[in-house]
Amino acid sequence: MPVITNIDDLKRIYARRVPKMFYDYAESGSWTEQTFRENTTDFDQIRLRQRVAVDMAGRSTAAQMIGQDVAMPVALAPVGLTGMQCADGEIKAARAAEAFGVPFTLSTMSINSIEDVAEATTKPFWFQLYTMKDEDYTRRLIARAKAANCSALVITLDLQILGQRHKDLKNGLSAPPKLTPKTIANLMTKWSWGIGMLGAKRRNFGNIVGHVDGISDTSSLGAWTAEQFDPTLDWDKIAKLKDMWDGKVILKGILDEDDARMAAKVGADAITVSNHGGRQLDGALSSIRMLPRIMEAVGDQVEVHLDSGIRSGQDVLKALALGATGTMIGRAFVYGLGAMGQPGVTRALEVIHRELDISMALCGEKSVAGLGRHNLLVPEDFTGRWA
Ligand code: GLV
Repeated sequence: MPVITNIDDLKRIYARRVPKMFYDYAESGSWTEQTFRENTTDFDQIRLRQRVAVDMAGRSTAAQMIGQDVAMPVALAPVGLTGMQCADGEIKAARAAEAFGVPFTLSTMSINSIEDVAEATTKPFWFQLYTMKDEDYTRRLIARAKAANCSALVITLDLQILGQRHKDLKNGLSAPPKLTPKTIANLMTKWSWGIGMLGAKRRNFGNIVGHVDGISDTSSLGAWTAEQFDPTLDWDKIAKLKDMWDGKVILKGILDEDDARMAAKVGADAITVSNHGGRQLDGALSSIRMLPRIMEAVGDQVEVHLDSGIRSGQDVLKALALGATGTMIGRAFVYGLGAMGQPGVTRALEVIHRELDISMALCGEKSVAGLGRHNLLVPEDFTGRWA
């Protein structure tokens, strides 16, 4: 086993082990992938301010997200089809997060169900909700998350309709994979993935199959979202969902100051500045570039988290120093999961933790609470002059 020192090491192993269809699913943005690319390259434009002769003993990355203690302010983001990247992927990722002391978020479009993850863990996790045309089904999903003792409802606002990712269409993405000659040829080179999958608890969408009737194709993410997702979701409906949940609510997918103000007004406990990893509106600005403007608009009214583009502890540091209270990682943990299962997710968290801790120290900070704009060198036109 190679020595793993960074997230890219995990990504290389992941690419070898996981079927192309699921690698492409994770590794795609929509259309030209401009936003997907800029989510990471925009982090590189921000530099760190080195400080010396500062006592760095007794450092800690411990923090809180929505009032919950976290070992570092990095939650695992909801990622659809995680259980196709590795057998029982959601269970393994949730267990790794629990042991590390960071939140795990289960996607509505997961393979393991809410109940599977609740049974396999001992601490509450977060549940991500897609709202459905079938209001009764949405209500049942919320009730199931309540019964499973989930400690936050993460309502995704930027995917009422699925952004087009060319590779998923060309690959015929489905869970489980449909056995075409091309897929079979690829699966034959991924034997350890296949052996794992033979023993998996589930191979289809666990929150859906058996819980809702009248779907033409339960294996296709594209068909399911097109048929079932509620295109009429608006702020009134969000307020109603919040009342229905009656607990901590995180509104995910905010990329605009006006939307951030609306989210604060409906009383969200936190918002997630996100463009869905560049998977939805290609051409949108990166999350990190939008963060300063959103902090300025609502930073004193609502807790702000950020996802999209984080691949290192230094990226986490930059988001926190620009004012975010927390961050989410999606692909970074999926690489670990696909590479090595649960220990791979732990390794991804360790890598990011180490990068965050050492970078904090070299910036002269002992705690994440001390991080701020003073730790960064940000290009003057970073937020851009967009007319
Ligand atoms: C679903 O959340 C996706 O981005 O594919």
